[in-house]
Amino acid sequence: MGRSSVAYRTAGPGDFNRISEIFNLNILQFDSTLWQDPFSPEDIDQMCQQLHERERVFVLQKNEDIIGWGAIKRYHQKRGYQYACETSVFLDREFTGQGYGKPFKSFILDQCRILGYHHVNAKILAKNKASIAYNLKLGYDIVGVQKEIGMIQGEWVDVVIMQYIIRH
Ligand SMILES: CC(C)(COP(=O)(O)OP(=O)(O)OC[C@H]1O[C@@H](n2cnc3c(N)ncnc32)[C@H](O)[C@@H]1OP(=O)(O)O)[C@@H](O)C(=O)NCCC(=O)NCCS
Repeated sequence: MGRSSVAYRTAGPGDFNRISEIFNLNILQFDSTLWQDPFSPEDIDQMCQQLHERERVFVLQKNEDIIGWGAIKRYHQKRGYQYACETSVFLDREFTGQGYGKPFKSFILDQCRILGYHHVNAKILAKNKASIAYNLKLGYDIVGVQKEIGMIQGEWVDVVIMQYIIRH
């Protein structure tokens, strides 16, 4: 499948419907996030309005459609963590495994560099083998596993912590 018509850009109000749709599709699969309840477009609007000046929400656009979105969030508000952030990427399931996610995340990592971050963190459900493989391919390392830190549909879940160091 050709990806020449793919673009990455900052999310705007016209994207909030698709972002919530894509996020909710993923949330309701119960395999990629600890969020358990759907987000309305208004929730996404609020999330974007509340971003810190060093946080971003981006969309992945293919032709006229938004097929994914991703975010850069500060790791923590404590000033000592000012060089650490975390990222997330969610694609419409129809478009996973086709090479869209990796260049999108590379774009997001470039933006992390531009924002002055040094350490990029990712928290991934241990059962989400595709996402772990994807982050390893991008150059992330596994830090460790947090055992039974989450509960999804009545079951304990483990979370894999991964890290990526940006050399400036
Ligand atoms: C995780 C996600 C963003 C990855 O994006 P993607 O477009 O599916 O991944 P790509 O097709 O770009 O693949 C990137 C690399 O990961 C590897 N990979 C992808 N899925 C894989 C799988 N199921 N098993 C093993 N490797 C896999 C690919 O082989 C590829 O490696 P390569 O570049 O050497 O060929 C996407 O699948 C997604 O949105 N999934 C649902 C939501 C999710 O899990 N988000 C992450 C939350 S932490």
